[in-house]
Amino acid sequence: MRGTLLPILLIPLTLFCWFRAYHLHRKATSSLFINVSEKESQDVSHTSPLTSTDPVLQRFDNITMGDRRDNLLYFMQISDLHISKFQKTGGTSHFLHFLATVLPVIRSPAFVLVTGDLTDAKDEHFVTSRQFIDEWVTYQTALQESGALNRPGFWHDLRGNHDCFNVGSWGSEQNMYKKYGVEKQQGFDFMVEKDFGRYRFVGIDACPKAGVARPFNFFGYYETDDMDRLANKLSNASLFSNHTFLLAHYPTATTLYGKTSKGETFNDISRYISVYMCGHLHKLAWGLGDKLQTYQPTHYLELELADMKVNAIYRILAIDHDLVSFADIELPLNEIPLKIPPPSAPGFSVLPEKIAFPPVILVTNPKDSRYLMKYHEPVNRIKDSSHVRLLIWSDHDIEEIEIFLDGKKHNEQVIYRGNSKEDKDYIPLWVSPWNPKQFDDSKEHYIVVKARDKMGQKGESKVIFRVDGERSDMRGGISEFLIGLDWALVIQTTYIFGHSFTTLNMLFTKLYVTFHPHHPLLLVSYHISPKTFIQSYFRKTFLLASQPIFFYTLYFYLLSSITLPWFMGNMIPSAVEEGDDGTGLFWLFGIQLNSQWLPIFDTWRYALEDQLVWSIGAVIIWFMVITGERKWKRRYWILGFALWLWRGSSLIRLAKQYGNLAIWTNVQTLWWAFWGWYGLYRKYL
Ligand SMILES: *[C@@H]1O[C@H](CO)[C@@H](O)[C@H](O)[C@H]1NC(C)=O
Ligand SMILES: *[C@@H]1O[C@H](CO)[C@@H](O)[C@H](O)[C@H]1NC(C)=O
Ligand SMILES: *[C@@H]1O[C@H](CO)[C@@H](O)[C@H](O)[C@H]1NC(C)=O
Ligand SMILES: *[C@@H]1O[C@H](CO)[C@@H](O)[C@H](O)[C@H]1NC(C)=O
Repeated sequence: MRGTLLPILLIPLTLFCWFRAYHLHRKATSSLFINVSEKESQDVSHTSPLTSTDPVLQRFDNITMGDRRDNLLYFMQISDLHISKFQKTGGTSHFLHFLATVLPVIRSPAFVLVTGDLTDAKDEHFVTSRQFIDEWVTYQTALQESGALNRPGFWHDLRGNHDCFNVGSWGSEQNMYKKYGVEKQQGFDFMVEKDFGRYRFVGIDACPKAGVARPFNFFGYYETDDMDRLANKLSNASLFSNHTFLLAHYPTATTLYGKTSKGETFNDISRYISVYMCGHLHKLAWGLGDKLQTYQPTHYLELELADMKVNAIYRILAIDHDLVSFADIELPLNEIPLKIPPPSAPGFSVLPEKIAFPPVILVTNPKDSRYLMKYHEPVNRIKDSSHVRLLIWSDHDIEEIEIFLDGKKHNEQVIYRGNSKEDKDYIPLWVSPWNPKQFDDSKEHYIVVKARDKMGQKGESKVIFRVDGERSDMRGGISEFLIGLDWALVIQTTYIFGHSFTTLNMLFTKLYVTFHPHHPLLLVSYHISPKTFIQSYFRKTFLLASQPIFFYTLYFYLLSSITLPWFMGNMIPSAVEEGDDGTGLFWLFGIQLNSQWLPIFDTWRYALEDQLVWSIGAVIIWFMVITGERKWKRRYWILGFALWLWRGSSLIRLAKQYGNLAIWTNVQTLWWAFWGWYGLYRKYL
């Protein structure tokens, strides 16, 4: 009787824990969904997505793209500079070369947008994080020396997660962006008004309201009141614009967008934007993020820009007759990343000498068909155009330009219709007559443009185009898939699935073994082979379930991880130093500071990687391998010991990042100590 009661009691206990977990989750994320009434949210869901009667479609007219330098505007974006005090490779050097060489040649972009991670904010070992005034001063000095700050409305920057590592609040002294940044405010919103149209640029700061030190600061979030402000801004009809660009540091994939108080989601309000521009992911790793760009289902383009830090990439965008084109270009360096910081030029404290710059080409007509947005752009203008239009920036005079259409040389003359470099709005426009009807066969074509300057430096650009206004497949492969994915949803679902599977599997096995203590699988040993895999698997789970110490410790560890905080730590060490309270609780559902919840998603990521995979999955598998064997095989023992040491080292790293408290108050420490002891106990008994 006594033997069966405890396992049966696990059923109500588990149900209770799930119930509590659900409530904790609701509480932790409540600021993303405050006062969203159920009724209203149903009403709003009908208003999206774009319908064909949407105003953006009604302005398409018959302006012809010809050979005149009209209806044209260009600007630039850079991202993830990571100006660092300690990192000598890339980073700072790339940014300095961008200012010293690229800006003077591109000359008059309407403005430059910087989508976050201005500074690196990591220590010399790249483990802990804090804001360094030197890094911010370098940023400011470089901008001053380049003259960028003398041009009103020229430089627009946003904070990234690195700029809010270890920053207690917007008002904190540690928020150096407030002092050394250019915008010095949370986000920006400006309109470029030209006689041919109005273009709106809205930048949002989705940093956590209290900037936790790394590593729990990778995901951004945008709460209900932020969403309300954004929705009001975007939907304000009196601010109608031909295109609205939304700028953010975080891609949508790594931002928790809450709902507006009317219940609208980010997808609902995204119908007002044409392009979402962001950074943050660099190029990921192993070639997974070479082109993190996608066309979102609600008809906007999401264009992540690779970093300045390692990849030395900058972007030029042009809006030509309301068609948006862009090119992502590498800095003209001999090596990328640059190993040694450049010496400063005479008369400057940080800015280096200008380097050689080969011509850069951006084809604005025909626009690259992979990025056509027929709900936002007058795509018919391509078919009705009379000229191919190119923007070519070069340091020296251009001597030769060749155009190839589908591999055949285009024999029409290429004429300069731009203005002088000395003009205020320098637009280096080249045009060449063409007949787009020749390509109107609902197929893809390609155009190659080659330019050579008088120093013999060459530039080349290849663009896929269609003249029927249909979008081409983006061919982004895995990158396109990844950027279109809701990472938070994937991580959360995987964790919930993994956790429930482990819990239920253990519970049912325990109950089964309790009532069938003499099941043959518990008594007969199998040699693992593909044929007996299923039997072996069940034998191992039966064996583990019938070891009370192992079973109950693991089971309670699993339940505690969804119902109790995992540890207490100095989440914002700088705040603690300043005498404020930066001590917080880490829960699966977010971080709690002074009893206030921050819906920081990184806790889920940590839970999945560190707990579910390495602290639970690997341990279970290891015990499965060694249970039932007559003798402990040495190599498995060594493997387990290595895993144990490694888990220990990850706890030590946590202590470096969030203080020793993070070890002494940690459930994982208990679990780690336990199975170190249990392993030894099993070995010698
Ligand atoms: C939510 O609603 C309650 C009352 O219904 C109100 O007191 C509170 O201020 C609201 N909160 C926000 C953020 O609007
Ligand atoms: C279209 O263009 C023609 C000639 O260029 C002009 O006469 C006509 O008014 C235009 N129509 C509209 C709707 O702009
Ligand atoms: C911008 O929108 C206005 C209003 O719809 C329209 O008249 C104008 O032609 C557009 N500009 C361009 C370059 O298409
Ligand atoms: C729309 O924008 C205009 C101009 O900035 C402002 O005066 C007006 O109050 C805004 N309307 C709403 C509903 O936010």
